[in-house]
Amino acid sequence: MPLEIIRNDITKVQADAIVNAANATLLGGGGVDGAIHRAAGPELLEECKRLGGCETGQAKITKGYQLPAKYIIHTVGPIWHGGTSDEELLLRNCYKNCLSLAKEYQLESIAFPLISSGAYGYPKDKALQIAISVIGDFLLSNEMTVYLVVYDKTSYVLSEKLFSSITQYIDDKYIEEAPRDHRSRSDTTVQLRDTILEFPEQSLPEQAPRVRKSKRSLDEVVKNMDETFSQMLLRLIDEKGMTDSETYKRANIDRKLFSKIRNDINYKPSKPTAIAFAIALQLNLDETKDLLRRAGFALSHSCKFDLIIEYFIEEGNYNIFEINEALFAFDENLLGVKV
Ligand code: APR
Repeated sequence: MPLEIIRNDITKVQADAIVNAANATLLGGGGVDGAIHRAAGPELLEECKRLGGCETGQAKITKGYQLPAKYIIHTVGPIWHGGTSDEELLLRNCYKNCLSLAKEYQLESIAFPLISSGAYGYPKDKALQIAISVIGDFLLSNEMTVYLVVYDKTSYVLSEKLFSSITQYIDDKYIEEAPRDHRSRSDTTVQLRDTILEFPEQSLPEQAPRVRKSKRSLDEVVKNMDETFSQMLLRLIDEKGMTDSETYKRANIDRKLFSKIRNDINYKPSKPTAIAFAIALQLNLDETKDLLRRAGFALSHSCKFDLIIEYFIEEGNYNIFEINEALFAFDENLLGVKV
């Protein structure tokens, strides 16, 4: 998964480089800066003394010493003064300059804390949104694994507006999963009716009631009736005029996994992987359900994860990094997959 949001102490993350939210002197401090200096050992300070400090928005690299990470990339985030002193530009530059240093050193993985969101007072939801958008843009044209390390839940704040509208959507649509043995006949009927409503017309059992027409023409459905997941995915990529790399990057999927799927028409993906491709292809809800069905899955209103996915599809927001930001905030699994 090119962008993973994880909850951990960054000094314990096994990445090629971890990023330090430092101050301009680079001579250590509190917060993540203090934790990194403590874990790396005194040699780090000796090397930092030779760097001559660092300007806000810039980045400098040192060895990792006693850390699991090979390198530490030190950057100085902006102090929040209300948003009128180029804070956003400077914070974006922190992420950009760290990522370009990592690329220059040909690193395969890098871990970021939420820069400036602690002592420097940057509003956590804005700091998070900036991190996700700069890292997401970078990953659309670069191969690297990026970890966004959240140290504690309070430092992970989704924007209040987004959080409340997703919560409202879940409240409106969530159906308690009735325990199987107590499900009343009417529920089953409802369930059956819903299921029937999902099928294209030609495959309805004879005695089934008339249903609304499926969105696609009958012969098109029949033509693609027995497509496997992989065949349907590759057909949709062609129909949408997308390239393979554009597709797996927008799905937050690793290149290696994509080539496995491309080379095996019977490949069975996990549900988050199947949904990640539906998001990458910007499928509507019916098309998403169709693609999921090829992998043996369905979206359920008894599942918060599925409702959050539905929310973003209905909103027409197919930014997989923003969707993962929301899934993480609701303690759900993320889209894409670890290889
Ligand atoms: N691992 C991961 N994240 C951490 C850790 C840790 N061990 N410790 C703190 N954090 C998180 C905080 O919860 C916050 O979300 O890192 C984020 C950044 O907080 P700070 O470390 O306070 O950094 P920042 O807000 O950029 O302020 C930098 O603080 O420590 C001093 O010397 C530093 O003067 C500089 C200023």
